[in-house]
Amino acid sequence: MLKIAVCGLGTVGKSFVDHFIKYQDLISKNCGQEIEIAIIADRSIDKKKFNHDSIEFSSDILSVIDSDCNLIIELIGGCEIALQLVKKAIQNKKSVITANKALIAEHGDELFELSKKNKVYLGFEAAVAGAVPIINSLTHNMLNENILSISGIVNGTCNYILDQMSSDNKDFSEALKNAKELGYAEADPTFDIGGFDAAHKISILAMLAYNIKSPYKNMHIEGIESIETMDIDYATELGYKIKHIALAKRTNSQIECRAHPVLIHQTNILSNIDGVMNAVSTRGDRFGTSLLYGHGAGGDATASAVVSNISDYCNFSHKDLDRYSKKDTNDELVNVMNINDICSQYYLRIFANDVPGVMAEVTSTLASHKISIEAVTQHEPLKDDKLIPIVMITNSVSYKSILSSINTIESLDNISGKINLIRVFNDND
Ligand code: HSE
Repeated sequence: MLKIAVCGLGTVGKSFVDHFIKYQDLISKNCGQEIEIAIIADRSIDKKKFNHDSIEFSSDILSVIDSDCNLIIELIGGCEIALQLVKKAIQNKKSVITANKALIAEHGDELFELSKKNKVYLGFEAAVAGAVPIINSLTHNMLNENILSISGIVNGTCNYILDQMSSDNKDFSEALKNAKELGYAEADPTFDIGGFDAAHKISILAMLAYNIKSPYKNMHIEGIESIETMDIDYATELGYKIKHIALAKRTNSQIECRAHPVLIHQTNILSNIDGVMNAVSTRGDRFGTSLLYGHGAGGDATASAVVSNISDYCNFSHKDLDRYSKKDTNDELVNVMNINDICSQYYLRIFANDVPGVMAEVTSTLASHKISIEAVTQHEPLKDDKLIPIVMITNSVSYKSILSSINTIESLDNISGKINLIRVFNDND
C-alpha cells in the first residue's frame, strides 16, 4: 500500500484530492499497487469540508515527515514552509511531488542533488504549464535531442488578461479581477503580471533542456503592466498580437533566458493561443518543431499533472535522477547571455507634439544609433490630448542600442513622457 500525504489545501490541493478520490481505483490499478491519501495537512484546515473517515487531518505541516507516508505532495506554494518541508522529506527518504515552480526554479539545483543523494523521487510536472506535459517531454521523449530553443506562453493569467483586453475590450484591472475569480492568478498576482511566474517556469525548462543550473537569478524579466489597450490596437493594425512569452535558447556557447511581452505576428501559431491556454514550442536540430498546448492554470489542470507524477513515482528508478544532474559550473553552456547584448526588433510607441519636423527628429536620432525603421504609423491624438502617438517597428538591434536611442528621443523637446518599448518575436525562435 502506498500512502500519500497532501500538504496544502488551496485551489490545487482541493482539486487534487477530489481528482484522486474520484479516480483512486483507476490510479491504483494503473500503478500496480493500492494507493491512498492517508493525511491532509494544511495550517488552516477545515475538516468539515471533507467526509473521509480514512484520512487523517493535521494543521501541522511538518508532522507528515514522521508519518508512515512514503510520498509527500507539496501544494503549499512559496519558498518558506514548502522548502523546509521538501528538504526534510527528502532527507528522510520520502519522495516528493510538487506543483511549486518558485521552489524548483530557485532551489531546484539543491533539491535535485538532495534527491539524488537520498535516491528518492522528485516530481514537478505541475510546476510548468499545468496539464501541458512539457517536463515529461524534456526528461523522457526529448532527452536525447539537441534542443535549440523553447518558447512558450506559460502564464495563463497574463494570456487571459491580454486576450480580454484585445477581444473583449476589458481594461487591465477588470481582466485581472476575472483571472483571480477564476482561480488562475497566484495568491499574489504580481508574480503573474510582473512576469516572475513565467520566469520561474522557463528557468525550469532551461535547466532540463540545457542541463544547466537554474538561470532564474540571471535572466531578464518583464511583465505586462505597461501594455495598454492602444498598444494592442496599434499592434493589430500592423498584423501582430501582443503576448507574454518566455524563451530559452542556445546562442553560440551561451543560453538566452528571458520572459517579457512581445508583438507576435498573426501568422505565428503562438499568436492564436488565447484565453488562459498555454503552449510550449520546442525546436530541436533533428525533430524540428514540436508544439504542446493545453490548460496551464486552474485547479483541475494542475491537479492532473500532479496525478501524472504518481504513475511516474511508481515506475521510478533512482537512475532517472541523472536526468536532472547538472554539468559543473565551468561548463561552457552555463552562461546566461546578458540581455543588453541580445538583439531583437522593437515596437516603439512615442507621444509627440503635432509640429512639423518631429518625425524627422525621431528617425534621425534612430539613424544616428544605426537603427532603421521597418514600419511606421502615425495616429490621431487620443481623446482630450494634443499629442500624437507615433508607432514604429525597428530592425533587429541590441537592447543596449535601443535603450540608448530612446533615452535620446525622450529628451527631445517635442517628445512627451516615456516611450513604450516591446520586443517583436522572432519567428525562428
Ligand atoms: N498563476 C499561474 C498562471 C498558475 O496564471 O499561469 C499556473 O502556474
